Amino acid sequence: MMLTMLPELVIRNSKMKVPVIQGGMGIGLSSYSLAGAVAREGGMGVLSSAGLDRIISNRHGRKFNHRQAAAQDVVDAKKIANGGIIGMNIMVAVINSYEDSVLGSMDGGVDAIISGAGLPMSLPEIVKLHPRADEVALIPIVSSGRAAEVIFKRWSRSGRLPDALVVEGPLAGGHIAWRELEQATDPANHLENLLKEVLDVCKTWNLDIPVVAAGGVYTHEDILHFLSLGCRGVQMGTRFLATHESGANSDYKKLLVDCVESDIELSHKPGSPCGMLFRVLKQSPFYLEAQEFARAPKCNKGYLLNKGNCAAKLENDKAFCICNGLLASINLEPNEKKLYTVGQMAHRINKILSVKELMGELTIPNFKAKINLSEKSLEETNKEFLQ
Ligand SMILES: Cc1cc2nc3c(=O)[nH]c(=O)nc-3n(C[C@H](O)[C@H](O)[C@H](O)COP(=O)(O)O)c2cc1C
Repeated sequence: MMLTMLPELVIRNSKMKVPVIQGGMGIGLSSYSLAGAVAREGGMGVLSSAGLDRIISNRHGRKFNHRQAAAQDVVDAKKIANGGIIGMNIMVAVINSYEDSVLGSMDGGVDAIISGAGLPMSLPEIVKLHPRADEVALIPIVSSGRAAEVIFKRWSRSGRLPDALVVEGPLAGGHIAWRELEQATDPANHLENLLKEVLDVCKTWNLDIPVVAAGGVYTHEDILHFLSLGCRGVQMGTRFLATHESGANSDYKKLLVDCVESDIELSHKPGSPCGMLFRVLKQSPFYLEAQEFARAPKCNKGYLLNKGNCAAKLENDKAFCICNGLLASINLEPNEKKLYTVGQMAHRINKILSVKELMGELTIPNFKAKINLSEKSLEETNKEFLQ
C-alpha cells in the first residue's frame, strides 16, 4: 500500500513539509536544540520566551536582556534548522517582557509568533513597530470560539488578522485555559467541540486560515483524525518533551518514561499564579512542598509581576511560584526544588526518542506497530479523562 503522505502546512510565508508544530515549552524545555531539530525535519520548531534572559546569559556566558536573549535564541535555533521554520511562544501572562520578547524574536529573524496563556490583544500593534512586521506569522492560542471572536474583533481594528489559530484543549501540557477542575473535565470542552466552535467563527468571518489542534495529540493516526475534522495541522508538546533534544533534564525524562496516568494532576489551590489550571507530575518535589504550604511565598524573579503583584508573592495557599520551580527543573535555580509540567498523555511515553525518530513515527503510518509502542487510542484516553 502507498504511504499516506501528510499535507504541507502553509502559514503566511512559512511552508512546513510536515503539518506538525512543536509547541513552545517554558522554561527552557523547547530549547534551541529541540526547535532547530524539529524545523530541520520539516515541522515548525518553537522556542519559548519564558526566562530567556537567564537561559541565554547562562548559555553564552555574558549578560543578555529580554530583547537580546529572544533574538539570540532564534539565531541559535536557526543555525540547526537548515532553513526550516522557527517560531517563538510568548505567553501573555509574562507581561513585563512581552513586548521585548516579540521585538527581540523579530530581530533574530523568527518566522512566527505563537501567543497564549491569556489573549494576545496587543500583539499586532507591537509587531507593527518592527520593520519585519509583514514577514512574521501571528498565531494566537485559543480555547473557545468566543476567544477567537474577541481576538478577530480587536485585531481587525489594527488592520491585521491572525495568520493561523492554535486551538488548545484540556489534555494539553503546561497551563490550560480553564480555572476550575469541572470546566477542564466538562465534555463541552472536549478538543473536538472547541475546534468546531473555532472553525465556525472563522467561517462567519470568512477567514480561511489554518486551524491547528493541540492537547493530547500523540500518534500519526491522531494527526489524521484532526485533519479529517478540518484542521490543517497539530501542535504537540509532550511527545517533543520526551526527546533527546529537549531541555528536560535526565530526572524529568526518567519520570516521563516511568509515570502512570494517576501521577498526572491539574494543580489547583495551590496552583499556578497565572490563575489557569496547570498540569504537573505529582512527584515534582516543588509541587509536593507547595501542597504542604512549606515554601514561604516570595518573588525574586519578577517574570509574572503585574503592577508589582503576583498571586504567589504574598501568600502560598492559593498559588505557588512556578518561575522558581521551572527554573530549578532546568538546573538554573540551585536553591529551589524542581517542578515538572506535562500533558495528560505523558503516561503513554515509554521511551525517549530522537526528534528524527519521532517525526518519522508521526509522518509514517503504522510506524508505531513497527517499533511496538504500547498505545491507547486518543478516544479511550479522552473518555477516561472526562469521566
Ligand atoms: C512541559 C510543557 C511546557 C509547556 N509550556 C508552555 C508555554 O510556556 N507556553 C505555552 O503557550 N504552552 C506551553 N505548553 C503547551 C504546549 O505548547 C502544547 O500546546 C501542549 O503541550 C499540547 O499538548 P500535548 O502536550 O498533549 O501535546 C507546554 C507544554 C508542556 C508539555
